[in-house]
Amino acid sequence: MGWPSASRRLAVALALSLVVVVELAGRCHGGVTSSFVRKTEKTVDMPLDSDVFRVPPGYNAPQQVHITQGDLDGAAIIVSWVTQDEPGSSTVLYGADKNKLEFYAEGKYTRYKFYNYTSGYIHHCTLGHLKYDTKYYYAVGIGQTMRQFWFMTPPKVGPDVPYTFGLIGDLGQSFDSNITLSHYESNPKAQTVLFVGDLSYADDHPYHDNVRWDTWGRFTERSTAYQPWIWVAGNHEIDFAPELGENVPFKPYSHRYHVPYWASGSTSPFWYSIKRASAYIIVLASYSAYGIELGGQGVLNPVGT
Ligand SMILES: *[C@@H]1O[C@H](CO)[C@@H](O)[C@H](O)[C@H]1NC(C)=O
Ligand SMILES: *[C@@H]1O[C@H](CO)[C@@H](O)[C@H](O)[C@H]1NC(C)=O
Repeated sequence: MGWPSASRRLAVALALSLVVVVELAGRCHGGVTSSFVRKTEKTVDMPLDSDVFRVPPGYNAPQQVHITQGDLDGAAIIVSWVTQDEPGSSTVLYGADKNKLEFYAEGKYTRYKFYNYTSGYIHHCTLGHLKYDTKYYYAVGIGQTMRQFWFMTPPKVGPDVPYTFGLIGDLGQSFDSNITLSHYESNPKAQTVLFVGDLSYADDHPYHDNVRWDTWGRFTERSTAYQPWIWVAGNHEIDFAPELGENVPFKPYSHRYHVPYWASGSTSPFWYSIKRASAYIIVLASYSAYGIELGGQGVLNPVGT
């Protein structure tokens, strides 16, 4: 979104439509965590050689590692990552003992082209039958460069289970995005991010430079590899660009960010629901009919910028 802040807030509320049903307001102990007010000047994207965009060392090292809930009620996780040089392994090793990753799950990889960009190998692997309220360690990049991370599963779903969500949207990859992410990380209570759309803003770059999807994945890994981020697509995920021969909306987003829509009986990743601790989360992307409504007529409605 690039609108004045009042309409932006309205747009976030109306257009991105991520609805969270929580406990009664009186029992919610959110509180004020910061006096931070975003400055009004236009922010500057971090240059490609920034520290936060560094490729991890080692041959074909997994990068852009991110996790999200992988089922209806929090006993599964989808692990996603990218390998650049060759497919490598789509297997995830995992377990509750850091030194003995006793389980493994097989994933799959995909790739896509966008104009003159070709993605790396994008892996997605679901770890199921996890125990609630448990710390799991997991490793990707088996046989080449292994990297290990961890996550906490949520408590079993129930009406009074305490749990803390962070809410982030419109993140982008400017110097301010980095401050926003650091602010989120500084709160030790935060357990899962509800991401209300507009991830990388790659579409603001010439030819929707998809390299900016890769940099965004590397930038956010320091949180997304350790905590589930619950995704919904915003207008910056549409990437509908007939002038570049790109007529399939949401192509980069849908290849990179998988969500467990099947678990709630949904037929589309653009609407689904999950339960997590005491929250029932309904995800609705208001732009989901974009291609069907407008693609055939070749009309590009300038929603947001
Ligand atoms: C894609 O095309 C643009 C415009 O011609 C050019 O600037 C850019 O370097 C190209 N990128 C690749 C990966 O070929
Ligand atoms: C981003 O933030 C991290 C953590 O605060 C810091 O180490 C890093 O240098 C920052 N990078 C940029 C480009 O601002």
